[in-house]
Amino acid sequence: MDDRQRRAWAALGIGPAWLLRDPSARAEADGVASGEAEATPTSGPLSEPTTEPISEPISEPISESPMVIARSPGPGVRRDTAIAGLSWPALSEAVSGCRACGLCEGRRNTVFGTGPNPARWMLVGEAPGQQEDLSGEPFVGAAGQLLDQMLRAIGVDRAGETFIANVLKCRPPGNRDPRPEEVACCEPYLLRQVELLQPRLIVVMGRFAAQSLLRTDATVGSLRGRVHAWRAGDREVPLVVTYHPAYLLRNLPDKAKAWADLRLARRTFDALG
Ligand code: URA
Repeated sequence: MDDRQRRAWAALGIGPAWLLRDPSARAEADGVASGEAEATPTSGPLSEPTTEPISEPISEPISESPMVIARSPGPGVRRDTAIAGLSWPALSEAVSGCRACGLCEGRRNTVFGTGPNPARWMLVGEAPGQQEDLSGEPFVGAAGQLLDQMLRAIGVDRAGETFIANVLKCRPPGNRDPRPEEVACCEPYLLRQVELLQPRLIVVMGRFAAQSLLRTDATVGSLRGRVHAWRAGDREVPLVVTYHPAYLLRNLPDKAKAWADLRLARRTFDALG
């Protein structure tokens, strides 16, 4: 195992047991003092507007199956860098076994996302709700039904050409808002998903998805209605912001704006040729 691989394994919390046998070393590797329920954030809150992806991919995918994601990497190791090198199956497995923040304690299932890979369209929501936690699939509840209708209305086949994911892969208790440290822990998974799926167009739904991918504190109202360029390596992917379907269920007048956003997304997609 070379140094790069050893660092990546350490960041993922995998590797030979002797690396973790000393209990104090384990607490340090986990980034948690014993008895602490919440995870230590691996990066700060999302405040700086930039469309640069935050991860630096390492050159070769790591093919090993990570069983445990460490709460924070060892000295000198970035967890997001390790995740940025995972293959699709390893990423999926890493999400299933993730214990990076306190949300793992209450989940029934992680929700990795569903759809084809590669995907022509990628839709990004906030976090699983109760139905999604039970089923392990995104957008299967009431918001999902509205989303299905909206996609049908612009001629997008959800199952055939759309990958749907969330910023958080685990349900926040009582469907509360995601916390900055939870977003920070989960975001590297989403960024790697986007890189591997290579969508032609991304639609982000709601404040948390928009703020996470665009690295901004701006509101949905100020971000919607135009096409953003999202940088994935050397590619620029058009990204459209719209309201979250669950919000639209409670705020019917904004449905017209969401409809305009989706038509913008459709036109942008069609113009790609
Ligand atoms: N809301 C979301 O943001 N995602 C889901 O998967 C379900 C509801």
